[in-house]
Amino acid sequence: MDLPVLECAVHWARPADTPDMRSLLAPGERDRYDRFMRPADKARFVTGRFLARTVLAEATGLDPKTIRFTTDCPHCGGAHGKPRLSGTELDFSLSHSGDRVVVAVTEGAEVGVDVEEEGDRDVDRLAEMVLAGPERAALAATPDPKRGFHRYWTRKEALLKATGHGLAAPMTDIHVSSPNEPAEVVSWTGEAAVSPVRLADLSPGPGYAAAAAVLTDRPLRIVEFTC
Ligand SMILES: CC(C)(COP(=O)(O)OP(=O)(O)OC[C@H]1O[C@@H](n2cnc3c(N)ncnc32)[C@H](O)[C@@H]1OP(=O)(O)O)[C@@H](O)C(=O)NCCC(=O)NCCS
Repeated sequence: MDLPVLECAVHWARPADTPDMRSLLAPGERDRYDRFMRPADKARFVTGRFLARTVLAEATGLDPKTIRFTTDCPHCGGAHGKPRLSGTELDFSLSHSGDRVVVAVTEGAEVGVDVEEEGDRDVDRLAEMVLAGPERAALAATPDPKRGFHRYWTRKEALLKATGHGLAAPMTDIHVSSPNEPAEVVSWTGEAAVSPVRLADLSPGPGYAAAAAVLTDRPLRIVEFTC
């Protein structure tokens, strides 16, 4: 029997920093907002939390002002874990980079999302640190290594954000398809490894790479919305 399609809603926004947005921050979030030194970091943070709250409020019927996220780390008990909304089947993930903010939401399955601006990073050095051997060979053969590297990075970070490990788990344990092929996990070993999983590249626009990962065996439908 065919499994039902699972929808992953992906919401895009540009960073902003308005009183309306700041008014929705919970007290601890407001402290964090105040500690950011650079206006751009404040804007990405407040937009991410605002977008997550408004999207989740619409999906649940909750008042966005009352939405509180838990961030408990299951590994050490610290407060730097994956943000979650308790008491619901909805899972969400958020990411921000440069001029992009994104929130992905699924129901009944864990989701991870990542967006990265394709900056002037030392791709060769980073590739040694985060890519598996066959990925490094595939990257060397691609016409645009910067683009290819950011595809690899966002696919892997989306997977590690879905599990909640983040960059605490090694990216070299994950082997994904080559950048010009449809996104999928080829193999995944180590403590963070999960199966089955669905992976998809997103459409953040020129100069950016983005991916979403959902821990499910159901066929995935990605629907992207731009605010
Ligand atoms: C999650 C993480 C990969 C994000 O890195 P990044 O590329 O700089 O940032 P992104 O913009 O893509 O994502 C940031 C968002 O990820 C979310 N996030 C934070 N920790 C997360 C985790 N463990 N899993 C999934 N998502 C997480 C938050 O919503 C955060 O947004 P915020 O600024 O509004 O709080 C990184 O912060 C990380 O690895 N954190 C965990 C570190 C850890 O657990 N260390 C020790 C464990 S004992």
